[in-house]
Amino acid sequence: MNINKIGLLGAGTMGQGIAWALAAAGKEVVLYDIKEEFCVKAVAQIGKSLTRAEEKGSVAAGTMEAVVSKIKPTGNLDDLAGVDFIVECVFENMDVKKEVYTKLDNLLKPEVIIATNTSSLSLTEIAAITERADKVIGMHFFNPANVMKLVEIIPAIQTSQATIDIVTELAREIGKKPVQVKEGPGFVVNRILIPGINEAAYILYEGLASAADIDTAMKLGAGWPMGPLALADLVGVDIALAVCNTLFNETGDPKYRPAPPLRQLVRAGWLGMKSKKGFFDYNK
Ligand code: CAA
Repeated sequence: MNINKIGLLGAGTMGQGIAWALAAAGKEVVLYDIKEEFCVKAVAQIGKSLTRAEEKGSVAAGTMEAVVSKIKPTGNLDDLAGVDFIVECVFENMDVKKEVYTKLDNLLKPEVIIATNTSSLSLTEIAAITERADKVIGMHFFNPANVMKLVEIIPAIQTSQATIDIVTELAREIGKKPVQVKEGPGFVVNRILIPGINEAAYILYEGLASAADIDTAMKLGAGWPMGPLALADLVGVDIALAVCNTLFNETGDPKYRPAPPLRQLVRAGWLGMKSKKGFFDYNK
């Protein structure tokens, strides 16, 4: 199956990174969000980062233009009508997903697969919303999606083998390493990583070490490329809390209860790098 033109829903942190990864692999991307300006901003940010990378010499001259020209921003869902494949990374709320999927079902060619980047909602529940449940699958990228090599492929109970094969092949084609995971809260990476972030937040809450020292400890003592609290700021404290809540609610296991600082930061709107403040301050 030839997948050349991909519709990408959601121009937030993940949408931006995935658009970058797809366009860098030569795919045409139609980037949709409820307001076109969100998409324009995301493309401008990709352009800015790639201009810097060109200046540094870490990518070839002309890369910025080649990547950015492949991404078409839009605020009109109808512009996704002719695409070959969908990656959905809209807000992690089942009601929002329901609205979007109902519209997509009517709009897309019947053979089009919808891959969702959800990290906290049930694939089976998402697939059940649609008239094409066998063509719905999880395709979970990692932040920053243009850099991180892994893609978790998560079939819903309804997903067909043909869909799994196509998505696995697409992940390889764009230079990622796919691993297949059965549906379960947190899949593999978040099941391990989010409790680590949560534990770091508990250590902070208990006053055992400062945020900076917790991160230094895990970088220098465990070889993490960045500390767990900086990582929470990178993925979004709201996202870390949502995944932690999923682990807790789906399993009922108290070991996953979210640490108070995660809730506090979210209530304050200090969501990490995207809001310039989280466990650390990025205003400087
Ligand atoms: N967005 C885009 N590109 C970024 C970036 C960002 N936020 N951060 C770094 N990069 C790029 C840099 O531009 C650089 O590219 P070039 O080589 O072309 O210049 C490259 O990544 C390496 O960056 P640096 O040299 O500045 O720094 P580094 O070597 O320390 O790498 C890192 C940065 C890749 C983020 C690294 O610290 C890392 O791997 N951190 C852990 C990330 C991680 O665990 N992600 C998974 C989170 S969980 C998740 O996403 C799932 C979920 O559902 C919550």
